[in-house]
Amino acid sequence: MIEVKKLSHQFAIGKKGKETIVPVLHDISLTVQKGEIVTIVGRSGSGKSTLLNLISGYLKPTSGEIFIDSEKVSDLNESEWANFRMNHLGFIFQSFQLIPSMTAFENVELALTLKGEKEAERKRKTEQILLKVGIQDFMDHYPSELSGGQQQRVSIARALILNPPIILADEPTGSLDSETENELLDFIQQLNRDLDITFLIITHDEKVARIGDRVIELADGAMNEGALHHEV
Ligand SMILES: Nc1ncnc2c1ncn2[C@@H]1O[C@H](COP(=O)(O)OP(=O)(O)O)[C@@H](O)[C@H]1O
Ligand SMILES: [Mg+2]
Repeated sequence: MIEVKKLSHQFAIGKKGKETIVPVLHDISLTVQKGEIVTIVGRSGSGKSTLLNLISGYLKPTSGEIFIDSEKVSDLNESEWANFRMNHLGFIFQSFQLIPSMTAFENVELALTLKGEKEAERKRKTEQILLKVGIQDFMDHYPSELSGGQQQRVSIARALILNPPIILADEPTGSLDSETENELLDFIQQLNRDLDITFLIITHDEKVARIGDRVIELADGAMNEGALHHEV
């Protein structure tokens, strides 16, 4: 489902002509099978978000290849990526990234509008997903009128609205208290079981890491699979 082959990435920082090269990822290879939850752990600065940004097409790798659903996405240009993301990937972020001027309903509906779906169909699908994530009573609330846990549920509804086979999450519980975090982790596992959604989750939190069928550890830009199992 996701295949990363010998992926390396470096950033060039500083003034043009005088750049310093900062290597971040070295020779990363990993595979995520359909229906798996794979978690990637590592300390802050170990390159987790960079890896996710490469897999989502927001960064171009310095070298290496990425395949998603058998398509060689590392070759796509920006507009091809936008289209590919819409059809294959859902995203969940630590900071929710909801649009503050839109209600919960409108935030979730947006992707359907961009896809050109008719209003009645948009309403039906959006309400159905909001019900699924248990936020139907709050659909007219703006993000600032919702708790962190409620905002994260809205962002999950947004991730689900176009039925993506894969959801990528960067520190999805990083802004939640421990009880809300547990609820969210249960919910992710439920979506994985019931809808067969594949998850790739980046985290520095061991509790989140443990929901993974497999745990991959990133340290100094290189990976080590299964390391966490010895500690847990
Ligand atoms: N756009 C960027 N330009 C330069 N360096 C960056 C950029 N993004 C991240 N880095 C550097 O890459 C390293 C890994 O960052 P990141 O992938 O965000 O780590 P993590 O998500 O594991 O905390 C850090 O040293 C960070 O400073
Ligand atoms: Mg990060």
